[in-house]
Amino acid sequence: MPLTDFDRYPLTFGPSPVHPLDRLTAHLGGGVRIWAKREDCKSGLAFGGNKTRKLEYIVPDVLAKGADTLVSIGGYQSNHTRQVAAVAAKLGLKAVLVQEKWVDWPDSVNDKVGNILLSRIMGAEVRLDPAGFDIGIRSSWEKAIREVEAAGGKPYPIPAGASEHPLGGLGFANWAYEVERQEAELGVFFDTIVVCTVTGSTHAGMIAGFAGQDRPRRVIGIDASATLDKTRDQVARIARHTADLIGLDRDLRDDEIVVLEGWAGDLYGIPVASTVGAIRLLGELEGVIIDPVYEGKSMAGLIDLVCDGTIPAGSNVLYAHLGGQPAVNAYSGAFG
Ligand SMILES: Cc1ncc(COP(=O)(O)O)c(C=O)c1O
Repeated sequence: MPLTDFDRYPLTFGPSPVHPLDRLTAHLGGGVRIWAKREDCKSGLAFGGNKTRKLEYIVPDVLAKGADTLVSIGGYQSNHTRQVAAVAAKLGLKAVLVQEKWVDWPDSVNDKVGNILLSRIMGAEVRLDPAGFDIGIRSSWEKAIREVEAAGGKPYPIPAGASEHPLGGLGFANWAYEVERQEAELGVFFDTIVVCTVTGSTHAGMIAGFAGQDRPRRVIGIDASATLDKTRDQVARIARHTADLIGLDRDLRDDEIVVLEGWAGDLYGIPVASTVGAIRLLGELEGVIIDPVYEGKSMAGLIDLVCDGTIPAGSNVLYAHLGGQPAVNAYSGAFG
């Protein structure tokens, strides 16, 4: 059915703002103009981010099922679980968050500050777990769901990044239509979108949403998972599922699903030199903060793709800023 027919529980103030990055544009040259669309500036819920938009389409199902506890999972510095905690607080529900040790990062406060601190402040039950990184379905999460049930609660399972949820791609399909409306207001066409991708439904939703529009454009996913094949498969699967859900009347082509590698480093969550360089550059030129796990990696990709001419002169690039800044506090060692 059309996207507009799906129930959406508003958690945002409205469309996320779009603005040019003029000093970054001048610095990189190449005849490419760069803009940002700010998922970090669109919600009053605990600093926002990309999951808030996904959860807008999941909350109606939570309410319809009469759940009393949101059960989700991520790394210690998960932005996703922080946004689940915020939504639970707003709805008057409980949140149980399994926080796995997805990243072996030496800052001694990595499990205490930033996102995890905010989740604790918002009243979530935070369960630390020693398991390492994996974007798939996790036994620790399934166990937490069973335990809520056994204690008489009504759990609502939200997988990592809300990506494996059947409705997980709708939020960013909606983003694609929001971009189209903003383009009409601004008198610009963004021929190239650059987005960070890990659990996949942000990028996948965009692909499905843009595929239903008249003018083709490039949606470039930059892998930050360092498990490229898993992320690419997950993006393709969720994009096709979401396209079906919103009634796209054709199959998605393989060339519409572009996930590029080269900026993740060897491990999820560990910033490399290009990550730190991109974070500093955007901070120094624009006063815009991005994080070492996700956005620093996609911005590093954008910078290289402009500099090596892969994004050609004359392009209008829209950088999807998906939030994630609270994690910066857990990575002081990267900027020492
Ligand atoms: C700030 C930020 N950017 C990018 C991503 C990647 O989004 P997705 O997991 O939907 O691929 C995430 C979450 O994983 C995130 O928190």
